[in-house]
Amino acid sequence: MNRFTPTKPAGARSVDDVTGSRRLRRMRKADWSRRLVQENRLTVDDLIWPIFVVEGKNVREPIAAMPGVFRLSIDLAVREAERAAKLGIPALATFPNVDLALRDQTGSHILDPDNVINRATRAIKDAVPEIGIITDAALDPFTSHGHDGILRDGIIVNDETVDQVAAAAVIQAAAGADIIAPSDMMDGRIGAIRDALDANGFQDVAIMSYATKFASAFYGPYREAVGTAGLLKGDKKTYYIDHANSDEAVREAEQDIAEGADMLMVKPGLPYLDIIRRLKDEFQMPTFAYQVSGEYSMIKAAGANGWIDGEKAMLESLLAFKRAGCDGILTYFAPEVATMLKG
Ligand code: PBG
Repeated sequence: MNRFTPTKPAGARSVDDVTGSRRLRRMRKADWSRRLVQENRLTVDDLIWPIFVVEGKNVREPIAAMPGVFRLSIDLAVREAERAAKLGIPALATFPNVDLALRDQTGSHILDPDNVINRATRAIKDAVPEIGIITDAALDPFTSHGHDGILRDGIIVNDETVDQVAAAAVIQAAAGADIIAPSDMMDGRIGAIRDALDANGFQDVAIMSYATKFASAFYGPYREAVGTAGLLKGDKKTYYIDHANSDEAVREAEQDIAEGADMLMVKPGLPYLDIIRRLKDEFQMPTFAYQVSGEYSMIKAAGANGWIDGEKAMLESLLAFKRAGCDGILTYFAPEVATMLKG
């Protein structure tokens, strides 16, 4: 057996010589000092809670791929909005699961002032006026093919989709939405929505641009939630950004700011922290991340299996967004984390 015995180098330097007596562990030695030097913090003010709404009364349908998340009828969504407001969550983002019979080629039901999203907005604003409401003007929950745009001869038609999205935004604002957040990635949608809102007297309604939405595998569970999973043919690569690209994301954000975006969003979240940091450094805009369904479900599933500590992973992932430069996070964990932060 040839055993190797390391020898300490002759004249080996002490650690103090190596570090010049700079020891970063000094400030980590106790909980009090770690708290004292902590650079970023997660608070309830950072949270936006995405919820799913459906027709009916007293409906609370579990979503198999999103343990702990439910499709709620409007009456129960109002109840949850009250709970969110009590917890101090600043805003909700609503997404509908629309009856299949109401979905068509152009997503025309998005223009119905009495569709489930607009009724939910009115009901929540009525009962809980102090909570912000963010609505998505994208067509995907309303189209029979699950795409975010109008589909003609296999092509997503940009300009016609923009007209529809802008009209939908005005109707959502009229129902009481505080922020319009279009998730469709059509060219020119931000400017068109701004013009349409202003022309209709909604100068105070803000736009949160899904400026950098990537073609991603992490949206899977959401598609179950809104019922587009079985409908969608092909992929969304002709409108969402290639997840290999970063300069393109900066150009998208730059354009949306020029068109009138008030806030930027990066989506998905955790795999795209580099994009968040780039956008914050470049533009100093209010910047948000959407921790999407797949990210939520991975943490939930691994936690449920005992493979990771789910609560700790949840908190760590949310704080990582703050460190990367986010002002806030859309997350399905919002009520859970708000409850923890309160306690
Ligand atoms: C589509 C839309 C998506 C999400 C919200 N709106 C992506 C998609 O289905 O392609 C994803 C949200 C999530 O995964 O939590 N406009």
